[in-house]
Amino acid sequence: MNITHELNELRRYRWQDSESSWGLVPTMGALHQGHVSLIKQARAENENVGVSIFINPIQFNSPIDLTSYPVSIDHDLQILENEDVDLVWIPNQKDIYPSDFQSYVEVENISRILEGKSRPGHFRGVTTIVAILFNVFQPDKAYFGQKDAQQLFVIKRMVQDLKFNLQIITCPTVRDNDGLAISSRNQNLSSEGRKQARCLFEALSYSKKAIEKGERITSELIKNMQKIIDEFTLAKVDYLSIADPETLNEVEKIQKRCLISLAVFVDNVRLIDNMIIELE
Ligand code: PAF
Repeated sequence: MNITHELNELRRYRWQDSESSWGLVPTMGALHQGHVSLIKQARAENENVGVSIFINPIQFNSPIDLTSYPVSIDHDLQILENEDVDLVWIPNQKDIYPSDFQSYVEVENISRILEGKSRPGHFRGVTTIVAILFNVFQPDKAYFGQKDAQQLFVIKRMVQDLKFNLQIITCPTVRDNDGLAISSRNQNLSSEGRKQARCLFEALSYSKKAIEKGERITSELIKNMQKIIDEFTLAKVDYLSIADPETLNEVEKIQKRCLISLAVFVDNVRLIDNMIIELE
């Protein structure tokens, strides 16, 4: 496994054999089973697999959120070694954002709703770093988890609008036994917070069942999801949304497909999750 911090060295490894395919898994480290599933899919679909580790400061909209982001580089490298990753890229902060950096990538409307409304500037930070990673690495495919549904949506829009020459692959959300979506932020939960964090999956599962039984009115579903979460003493809803998965616009009545998404503070840790429901 090659590990590099340097842009030119990265390019050298990447283009050693220009004929073979590369899958890239962009990460901010603190790797977990969700990342492992992305890497395994990349391994199955490409001759070479690269993983980037970079905690991107410009996507955090609060300094405390940035400083509390977990870091575990030795553990991460062990996981990457076990997964037979070919190239690990840990860029230097000064190479990515030199002091005179002033070019940002922004996907307009869909970056400002849902997560973007709660975390202004977040997606501008994400699309800027992802565009830089894609430009430097030039992967054939890049892998992202469905857990960050809006992030995926925004990145796909950017790739389409700016004509990036790669394929974005969506990988399913990986869950713990109680349904909690695996995330680096789960490490910040207290033991009681961890127990109560199942409220997100319970709310989503309630809506899924209610829709299967025939409920179509989204205000009813949202009211009941709120009630479910309110039963958990450490949980506080940031937003609950039922939207058209093609546009992310909220809908009043469910037609064929919908994206149910939510953000909840559990013991002050902000967790997100979602489900796409398809009607037959
Ligand atoms: O999902 C993440 O870990 C980050 O948002 C990403 C895509 C690596 C960009 O920093």
